[in-house]
Amino acid sequence: MPFLCFINRKSTKKKVKKVKEIKVGIIGFGTVGAGVAENLLNNYSVISTRTSISVKLHKIADLDITSDRGIAIPDNVLTTDANEVINECDIVVELVGGTTIAKKFILQALNNKKHVVTANKALLALHGKELFEAAKANGVDIFFEASVAGGIPIIKALREGLISNKINSIYGIMNGTCNYILTRMENEGVDFDTVLKDAQKLGYAEAEPSLDIDGFDTAHKTAILSALAYGEWFGLDHMFVDGIRNISLFDMGCAAELGYRIKLLAIIKNKDGKVEMRVHPTLVHADGMIGNISDVFNGVMVDGDTVGNTLFYGRGAGRKATASAVVADIVDVAKNIAANSINRTPAFVEGKLFDQIISMDEIDSCYYLRMMVTDRPGVMAQVSQIFAEGKINIDSLIQHGEGEGNGVPLIILTGMTKEKAMMDAIAKLEALDCSLEKVRMLRIENI
Ligand code: HSE
Repeated sequence: MPFLCFINRKSTKKKVKKVKEIKVGIIGFGTVGAGVAENLLNNYSVISTRTSISVKLHKIADLDITSDRGIAIPDNVLTTDANEVINECDIVVELVGGTTIAKKFILQALNNKKHVVTANKALLALHGKELFEAAKANGVDIFFEASVAGGIPIIKALREGLISNKINSIYGIMNGTCNYILTRMENEGVDFDTVLKDAQKLGYAEAEPSLDIDGFDTAHKTAILSALAYGEWFGLDHMFVDGIRNISLFDMGCAAELGYRIKLLAIIKNKDGKVEMRVHPTLVHADGMIGNISDVFNGVMVDGDTVGNTLFYGRGAGRKATASAVVADIVDVAKNIAANSINRTPAFVEGKLFDQIISMDEIDSCYYLRMMVTDRPGVMAQVSQIFAEGKINIDSLIQHGEGEGNGVPLIILTGMTKEKAMMDAIAKLEALDCSLEKVRMLRIENI
């Protein structure tokens, strides 16, 4: 019997997956730029194995291309001309910072139909609407994971993981410098000015620290998260922002005695169809999840109507953590380009879920008040009378020490109260003849 053999030629052919090459260009070769270049070069094969895309570092533009950044950059990658990045690359990574030249480069890239990845929180917070309109008009995208909480993928979580949720609230510790200062003050009993100077020496705080310690860095991040949560770029115009300069060791000690820690907290809430956005030092429970985020670490707690509470924790700054977020964006864009599906998961979708902002007068909060009063009979009655008139409930009241002519501190924690009622009551308390100093007020979030 003849032996017949059929060879299935198809099955013996080895399938070779076609690898698409995406060219990436970086503008700005500073700390983060160097971290991104390093990550793209070192983990090239990890990324190509996971995506079947060759995500290739093609150009890096900076005015200084001679200083050693500790990375071996391939030949012909470095340039002093940002136009080469914009003209030759598929994805333009803006890491220049600031809101002038960075905006020019991003708009130039978008108008050249190039996708953009940026870590620029100030630019997005102030000009997000304009930039996303330009991206939409050109059919390209802007991804911005590294702009909020560094290496924590909070933007992707809000954009994708929590997409089916209405966002009830977001609480964030999103400035490592402030968290480091507050943690050291608390642990070591050293005052704000001394810790700040030390943090500057150690490189944890900028020589010009205002953006961090006065709350504006956190405010930029708050504007971005509220845009994602509620589909509208509200900016900073209606946001209450206060920093940590005036936090005293005495208030920290009183807060600790009452079971609280003081944190610079971003608060975003959806309340009765309106948006509440504020940044200020806040008393939070010392044994709560947010209260336990210390040192340079960041943490963001998101409450979704379906999922409930979620907490995201990690490093909010630094070369490697930030590079991790930037490269994740680059890979997301590269995957979209390779699959020809640019708008499958847009980085931002205008939604206008809630477009009205609540004014500070209208917010509800609990409060910590510290008065300095004369130590004599009847003072407590006068103080209580003002709280009763304002229909403000006193939850705790502590009076420490005996008066020695200089007065005694009186610490009061209130129940939930409208800010306007609290401010009116504070004005009346300060007008009392027993009141020796301005009242120190801090807000409390029971999380
Ligand atoms: N300066 C910020 C911080 C990091 O201290 O967390 C960049 O946003």
